[in-house]
Amino acid sequence: MPKVRTTYVCRECGAESSQWFGKCPSCGTYGSLEEQLSQPTASTAPASDRRHRAKADKNRPAQARAARHLDAIASDRQARFSSGYQEFDRVLGGGLVPGSLVLIGGDPGIGKSTLLLQTARAIAAERSILYVCAEESGQQVKLRATRLGVTATDPAIATNLYLLPEIGLEVILAELEALRPAVAVIDSIQALYFSALTSAPGSVAQVRECTAALMRVAKQLGIVLLIVGHVTKEGAIAGPRVLEHLVDTVLYFEGDRYAAHRLLRSVKNRFGATHEIGIFEMGDRGLDEVLNPSRLFLGNTDDPAPGTAAVVACEGTRPLVVELQALVSPTSYASPRRSATGASYNRLQQILAVLEKRVGIPLSKLDAYVAAAGGMAVEEPATDLGIAIAIVASFRDRVVDPRTVLIGEVGLGGQVRLVSQLELRLKEAAKLGFRRAIVPQGQSLPTDLGLELIPVSKAIDAIVAALPATEKPTRTAGN
Ligand SMILES: Nc1ncnc2c1ncn2[C@@H]1O[C@H](COP(=O)(O)OP(=O)(O)OP(=O)(O)O)[C@@H](O)[C@H]1O
Ligand SMILES: [Mg+2]
Repeated sequence: MPKVRTTYVCRECGAESSQWFGKCPSCGTYGSLEEQLSQPTASTAPASDRRHRAKADKNRPAQARAARHLDAIASDRQARFSSGYQEFDRVLGGGLVPGSLVLIGGDPGIGKSTLLLQTARAIAAERSILYVCAEESGQQVKLRATRLGVTATDPAIATNLYLLPEIGLEVILAELEALRPAVAVIDSIQALYFSALTSAPGSVAQVRECTAALMRVAKQLGIVLLIVGHVTKEGAIAGPRVLEHLVDTVLYFEGDRYAAHRLLRSVKNRFGATHEIGIFEMGDRGLDEVLNPSRLFLGNTDDPAPGTAAVVACEGTRPLVVELQALVSPTSYASPRRSATGASYNRLQQILAVLEKRVGIPLSKLDAYVAAAGGMAVEEPATDLGIAIAIVASFRDRVVDPRTVLIGEVGLGGQVRLVSQLELRLKEAAKLGFRRAIVPQGQSLPTDLGLELIPVSKAIDAIVAALPATEKPTRTAGN
């Protein structure tokens, strides 16, 4: 491979220098110099691509146009294919698109390699797949594969699944060109090394150049690239932000380390809706799909606790019934504590203020805690009403009927505002055996769901409906 020159460019002012400095000689910023290739990595493009381009350039008449009519470009609709998991396909917007790059980020040990190895097994049933394990040796991957039941006794796996324990970008590119698999897994992008750069694997320059080179090959050969990316302490995918712009789809694999379920969430998708989620459960033999997840996020409806309310959050097009719990208690601090786990902290503050000012509940001297069951994060405004009712129920030490679900956004004036996808939410609640739903007034309501619908226009009306004043307290304080 011809030697590629690299330069150092200041992130702040764009000044270039041939060597690295701790402080930019031009603008004086510390630690802002990043290594980058002095010209685009033509050398990392596949050999066939370079040959082809050189030939095409020579033969093309001066006025020839490369642009084509939209009609002349084949649609990818039929080309999508399944990952073998409905939950994964849902998050991708209906399956894998040939030539697309999917970046999967997640905390260490959350199960990224497990998910991709299981996906590899499903894909190998019909298509060839190359699994580049840059972080682990072939033996380590084999060990996991055996635990997950991915073994070569299956003829499809024996012929279609290739393992490549390698960190060198050039070797991986050559292998992609030689094998031309339908799908390639890169586990992980931070472990790859492009020899033209002096910086270590995982550095901004390495991650950027490796992704760009892989992307060129994948787009040209129509290979789906599933790339694992580590996340930083702050939770973003480690490496340059530009990485997320380069790829077609960005997914996060997340979950409570202490709970078995894992969420695959799409935050960017060029081929489908974002905010879709797929739900899996981690067990001894790997990940299982959870096709009816609402049960995971509901508590014990036979023995409901005071301060509990069920809400329906929509994640993308998927409704999820989640149990919210609130606890208010006298504070021992000068300013009361507020905490939101799995709910939005700002919305909690806002709802507390609305309840104080518009409903007249004195909460300013009370600590308030809100948590969503099962480690689920519900930050949607449509869950406001549930939070408000859970807080009032805790304040009055009352139990909300466990068969009632609350849907609505609470405005600053104490009014209950309309929500999107109401019918979808109500259908999910009905499916799970809920009998009553408190919903915003003024929204068109479905009739045949077997749910008693109670439209309300103000938060106070919802409180009256959910916690009727005549009823005696069902629990004593401190229970
Ligand atoms: N023998 C086992 N039995 C049950 N679960 C296991 C077993 N071994 C691993 N696991 C589960 O698999 C998880 C690790 O999975 P995996 O290696 O796929 O994660 P990862 O996200 O790829 O991690 P890394 O960031 O280190 O690459 C563990 O956290 C654990 O939950
Ligand atoms: Mg891994």
